[in-house]
Amino acid sequence: MSITISKNKVYLLNTAHTSYAFFEDEDGILAHLYWGKRIDDIEELEPVTVTGEQGYHPVTDRKQEECSSYGMMRYKEGSLKVAFSDGVRDFRYRVAGHSVEENHLKITLEDVHYKFRVHLHYIVYEEEDIIERYREAENFGEDEVILERFHSAEYPIYGTGYSSLNCNGTWADEFKPYSDTLNAGKKAYESLRGSVAHVGSPYFIIHKDADETSGDVYFGALSYSGNFKVVAEQTPYQFLNVLIGISDTDFEWKLKAGECFRTPSVYAGFSGEGFGAMSNNLSLFARRHVMPQDKAEKPLRVLYNSWEATTFDVTCEKQMELAKKAAALGTELFVVDDGWFGERNDDHAGLGDWYVNPKKFPQGLKPLIDCVKSLGMDFGIWIEPEMVNEDSDLYRAHPDWIYRYETRPVLEGRYQYMLDLTNPAVTDYIIERIDELLSENDISYIKWDMNRALGECGSSFQKPEEFKSIWVKHVEGFYHTIRELRRRHPDVEFEACASGGGRADYGCMHYFDEFWTSDNTDPLVRLSIQETYSYLYPVKYMRAWVTDAASAGARVIPLEFKLHCAMCGALGIGMNLNKATEEQLAEVKEGVALYKSIRNTVQFGTLHRLKSLHRDDFHALSYDRDGQVVVFAFLIRQARGQEEYLLKLQGLKKDTKYRFTLDGKEYTKSGAYLMNHGLFLKMRGDYRSKCIVMEEVFTK
Ligand code: DGJ
Repeated sequence: MSITISKNKVYLLNTAHTSYAFFEDEDGILAHLYWGKRIDDIEELEPVTVTGEQGYHPVTDRKQEECSSYGMMRYKEGSLKVAFSDGVRDFRYRVAGHSVEENHLKITLEDVHYKFRVHLHYIVYEEEDIIERYREAENFGEDEVILERFHSAEYPIYGTGYSSLNCNGTWADEFKPYSDTLNAGKKAYESLRGSVAHVGSPYFIIHKDADETSGDVYFGALSYSGNFKVVAEQTPYQFLNVLIGISDTDFEWKLKAGECFRTPSVYAGFSGEGFGAMSNNLSLFARRHVMPQDKAEKPLRVLYNSWEATTFDVTCEKQMELAKKAAALGTELFVVDDGWFGERNDDHAGLGDWYVNPKKFPQGLKPLIDCVKSLGMDFGIWIEPEMVNEDSDLYRAHPDWIYRYETRPVLEGRYQYMLDLTNPAVTDYIIERIDELLSENDISYIKWDMNRALGECGSSFQKPEEFKSIWVKHVEGFYHTIRELRRRHPDVEFEACASGGGRADYGCMHYFDEFWTSDNTDPLVRLSIQETYSYLYPVKYMRAWVTDAASAGARVIPLEFKLHCAMCGALGIGMNLNKATEEQLAEVKEGVALYKSIRNTVQFGTLHRLKSLHRDDFHALSYDRDGQVVVFAFLIRQARGQEEYLLKLQGLKKDTKYRFTLDGKEYTKSGAYLMNHGLFLKMRGDYRSKCIVMEEVFTK
């Protein structure tokens, strides 16, 4: 049983290896009790009611609540702030009841005076060690109730001295890891850009001296693609209070009589075995319960993308030329990026006009698609449907379809405006145009881009008193658009991109089949981005290209290193094939063939981050699945006098033998040897890399 409730009102949620427990205290408050390794006997969990002084140590502030609101004598940041029509702004509740359906527990907290309830939902995924949480706020009275803050979940974590891991960054420099010790006060990660963007990620990772294989880690990822906020507050009362949900900085949701508001979900877990189990549990959960299920188990195709080769200079002939070269490498999908539509000759014009440019494609896309198909590849194309350029037919026809404040000049970002997706006329237009594109052409992949942040949430469609809800309504409009396009075109694969990795989040993962990780394809930076990305995002969703840009600056990085770096995720090629030498093309072809033989292991296997690039110049990771083990090792800079680097593997079966070739020589070694003794890798020079493929030797 994953959910048990005792007679003294303790609720115990058990997964295969973890337990989460809380109880209803004497005041009818839902108070946290335990989160950690599994405990089976619910009777052993003793509720401890907080009592005592109400002066400078208010009882309300000391309680570790499952849902604390603003107000009363609570001074930590609560996960709910509500305003009633008479100006009262606290939520005084009692537990009003609960229901359990299979693995889903719902607990209702009801205000003692106002006709307002909050339903807390907990869904237990036993095998994956994940508990999903979301909340609903319900106004069952006559008067309007205003939600000013409503996070998806609150996690009081007992103790002090925790560290928080998240990332920071900017365009082409996202997923930089940051670790903060949480001594006192609050640490917040937030996006106010309308999407999750390139700054901190919508998740929390809290731990105490954990590493890849040991230590307690508490983590949770928000299933949301808009403004988010994560707060970790070390209270003076021996617990860290973690909140996660929609950002409250510019949020307001009016609940009229009978209305309900549902938060996005959080997928959270505890690992007693460090960051490795955290990543692998969440990846497995994502595959089984978040990703579009029809494609979740299908490996991603090796694609060629023409962006870095041609940028906006797209013509049918040039793309055909590239397609022939891409097919010869063994790529399976040919993608035409930006520049094929409207008057899109640079980034100043054309967005919104989703018609094939007749000068670039006089007979439409068909000749190019026929050529691509005849070469044995599928065809994909780029769109940026939420945007419009001022210089476009769409904007000339509908200047009121964008977000803006009437009294201010409109803010541009990359010379473009954000369409008002709260207006159904706008989402209908986008759906019809993209539906037509997909219906008229044999397109099997869409790269959905978003190249600016939302700035001013004003709308001619919404009333001014609703403007603070636009941030959330925009995300709903976005989800509606992609959901409808997927429904109409179930065979098409969709990639989410926002100037690189600005749209990597579990909200998008429900509707997209992969993410573009970053516009930065320099393998040195990229390896670091990929390592951080892999903490809470699945490897399958990590699109990675080999490009020429990777040699930018003074560094000359061998093609082998670039290939190995991109093979750590879902391989793509973005090089200008017209400039590549025969030797380079042969090397890429070999890399593509190798990748096809290992991609199931890479995209779906158990990941082990063996040596962190964030700590060392020697970086290594491995993946294992179904008897195959794939190891990648990268040496950034050779240490003086050191020619061999010891690598101990993880996750192997100690008594099983593994066969592999290393530096041209064949070996058969036991899991015990590879994990305990390890392999000495001969690596000489800077920017060296190796890919070692091991197969289990089955003995009868
Ligand atoms: C940003 C993306 O991240 C790039 O890969 C490319 O598609 C450009 N936009 C096109 O404008």
